[in-house]
Amino acid sequence: MNSRRVLPPYRVKVVEPIPFLTADERRAALADAGYNPFNLRADQITIDLLSDSGTGATSTLQESAAALGDESYAGARSWFRFRDEIQALTGYPYVLPVHQGRAGERILFASMLKPGQLSVSNTHFDTTYANVVLAGAEAVNLPCPAATDLDSAEPFKGDIDLAALEQLLAGPDGSRVGVVLMTITNNGLGAQPVSMANLTAVRALCTRFGVPFFLDAARFAENAWLVAQREPAYHGQTPREIARAAFDLADGCLISLKKDGLTAIGGVVGLRDEARYAACEANLIATEGFSTYGGLAGHDLERLAQGVREVLEPTYLHSRADSTARLARLINDAGVATVAPAGIHALYLNAGRLLPHLAPHEFPGHALGCQLFLDGGIRCAELGSLYLGGMDEAHRLVTPAPFELVRLAIPRRVYTDTHLEYVADVLADIAKDPERVNGYRIVAAPPLLRHFKVRLAPLSG
Ligand code: F0G
Repeated sequence: MNSRRVLPPYRVKVVEPIPFLTADERRAALADAGYNPFNLRADQITIDLLSDSGTGATSTLQESAAALGDESYAGARSWFRFRDEIQALTGYPYVLPVHQGRAGERILFASMLKPGQLSVSNTHFDTTYANVVLAGAEAVNLPCPAATDLDSAEPFKGDIDLAALEQLLAGPDGSRVGVVLMTITNNGLGAQPVSMANLTAVRALCTRFGVPFFLDAARFAENAWLVAQREPAYHGQTPREIARAAFDLADGCLISLKKDGLTAIGGVVGLRDEARYAACEANLIATEGFSTYGGLAGHDLERLAQGVREVLEPTYLHSRADSTARLARLINDAGVATVAPAGIHALYLNAGRLLPHLAPHEFPGHALGCQLFLDGGIRCAELGSLYLGGMDEAHRLVTPAPFELVRLAIPRRVYTDTHLEYVADVLADIAKDPERVNGYRIVAAPPLLRHFKVRLAPLSG
């Protein structure tokens, strides 16, 4: 075994300063933000792990391509470059550019889902879920049973439960299923990958029952990398070959290109079916932009065309996966459990286990997230009872979430291993004396999308 460190295939050329506040300044900032890190200003944050979406660094080749961006209203050169790259990546003949993933969701579901129909998924991302509901349909999640064991080393906990899917399709509600949508990697469930075996079986079921099969492929390259590592039949294949094999299985895709597109903005809908394309195109032109730009500038299309190439480079994916796995080891060695095995775009801390003195209604995940900011200026997102729990009208927790997690999302090509070691150090200090972490209560919450605008107060201290 070669024990040398895995190097990122790039060096840094342009840097951006990061803020360092004092502990007192952070305490005041968090109080002003109603103890909700979403309300913090980015210039109050030292390490921002809130999202891996639109937060990556671009390359010299992306920026030089952007300078050549063709901003013509229709038929721009940049559109053709983008379209050709997406067709080469996915094999889908019809390509609709959109400004980000959720715009693609809205446009696709408007043509695909009728009121009363079902969208079935391994796990819908939250905006995907919302867009299914806005189309008048119902979203059904069927994660595989292995996903409920956060500690097991099962390689593909992002899979869908095939037995449950078959039962649904063959049962009385089978005729209501309008789409099966597989999210790769499974962002809602610990960044776990989906195996090609699972996607192949979903294809077979969808063919048998005559249901369209789509991919939500925001992290298509990262899923391909994990397949190459963990699924023996795919050892030795390139990420591009594996990504293509996944797209080949499906009838179309939604991709938020803010992740594996390595850009700040962008998305795409890929389709095989001409009639569906025509329906989506009319909607795109009415609500996003003409079909050769879809809400994006020519320079965005150029960065994207280059980004979807760079993201599939094995040296890049290897170093990114290695960096996340290394952070997981440092965090685990410090006594904090993460959802296992480590994925690539994020680590999910098991706050419920670290902070057993806090009950779900005291929001242990949120408390850990706030402590990471107070102690180290780190911002991250709770995925526990504050976000997913059921509340009554007085904002009291009625149904806790199954797990109290905190997501550390890792922007692409942005932080060095030293920044990530710092994150592990801050966590290690919390793990030495977890009882000092206070719980929180809700002071005010909006009726919809609670986690973005909720205001809280610490319970004591
Ligand atoms: N699908 C998945 C799997 C996602 O993770 C996201 C966004 C979307 C769709 C929506 O895409 O943001 O471009 O409209 N995820 C971000 C995150 C926001 O932080 O995980 P979008």
